[in-house]
Amino acid sequence: MKPLLYLILAAGLTAYTAGGEMDFISTNAGFAQQQLRHMLKDTESRDSLAFPRTINKEGKMITTSMYDWTPGFFPGSLWYAYEQTKDPVWQQEAVKWTEKLEPLKDFTQHHDLGFMMYCSYGNAYRLTGNKAYRDILIQGARSLSTRFSPVTRSIKSWNAFKSWHGQQMYYYPVIIDNLMNLELLFFASRETGDTSFRHIAVSHAEAAMQHQIRPDYSSYHVVCYDTTNGQVLARETAQGFADNSTWSRGQAWGIYGFTMIYRETEDPRFLKTAAGMADWFLDNKNLPADKVPYWDFNAEEAGFKPGIRSNANNIKTKYRDVSAAAIVASALFELSRYVDNSKAAKYRQAAITMLHSLAGAAYRAPAEKNGNFILMHSVGSIPHNAEIDVPLVYADYYFMEALQRYKASLN
Ligand code: GLY
Repeated sequence: MKPLLYLILAAGLTAYTAGGEMDFISTNAGFAQQQLRHMLKDTESRDSLAFPRTINKEGKMITTSMYDWTPGFFPGSLWYAYEQTKDPVWQQEAVKWTEKLEPLKDFTQHHDLGFMMYCSYGNAYRLTGNKAYRDILIQGARSLSTRFSPVTRSIKSWNAFKSWHGQQMYYYPVIIDNLMNLELLFFASRETGDTSFRHIAVSHAEAAMQHQIRPDYSSYHVVCYDTTNGQVLARETAQGFADNSTWSRGQAWGIYGFTMIYRETEDPRFLKTAAGMADWFLDNKNLPADKVPYWDFNAEEAGFKPGIRSNANNIKTKYRDVSAAAIVASALFELSRYVDNSKAAKYRQAAITMLHSLAGAAYRAPAEKNGNFILMHSVGSIPHNAEIDVPLVYADYYFMEALQRYKASLN
């Protein structure tokens, strides 16, 4: 199907044109660059190793150290600004912020190395071809691989996870988000010819498909394994409403993750899973018309109950999670390239609707507000009472990536 027809379908009653959509993309990319410029200014008066993450109640930027899971997103957004403009000033800033992360190549304390390094160094290598970046990524993949066990067939996400139901501790938790880290391993395998990276990635993806995805293609957030025999000990949630609910960002990571894994493997099982998860998300009766999901698809629904220690018991507002919409929009532009025409039209229409929603006044920040983040109204973790209805650096990163993918699809 031709892009113009997709655009008209996507708009429902409004006829979008390819030219109009190019203007939409460039206006939003320009706005993103403007916010990033102000954010860079804000970082000048701070610790040089402080990485933007969100805002506080006064609207001031909050940062993290490089060892949190999100430091790669700000450099990654700077790389998208460079890709959009080819302006060497953006490249200079992107290089500066990326290279601060070099120590992470030897980091092994949690699973998020893929997010931390592939969004920063991965984009850096893609856009510059600098071999030093390639070597740093490969070392990062070696570090990530140390967390794999052939018994569980999975990469351990966190060193420990405490159930919301009481004091029970688990020491081999694997969260659905972890699928995203596999891209670093596929890259390292391709670059080095060492198939052990790929073997780890495929094993992890197969185990996730088996244990983390429900028969209807919704997802569990956390699967806890017995390290002695690989048996599943528990399926719970860390950031969702309840163990049996579907946390919206978790489902988003699954859609994006399995789409990327299909790209890397061409194994139809992974495509079926990506499409199944996307259909579950898009066809869900609880997805609002603007396609920006509530933070959990089952929040406050009968039959779903948070653990006793979870702050989800105290929050009755069904907050939206803009970050989940941004991740899914970006994923759907890619997934639409791998499926038949009718599915492709559905995914593309949904991605375009999501992008237009995110770019509207309800979610896109006014200029120079929102701590200079681009998007408002994301949720970090309601169960932890953390980052509720705030901007988040990764929502902005995937919004910029989705704009870039949309643009590429129109050319
Ligand atoms: N990977 C952590 C999160 O999505 O919040």
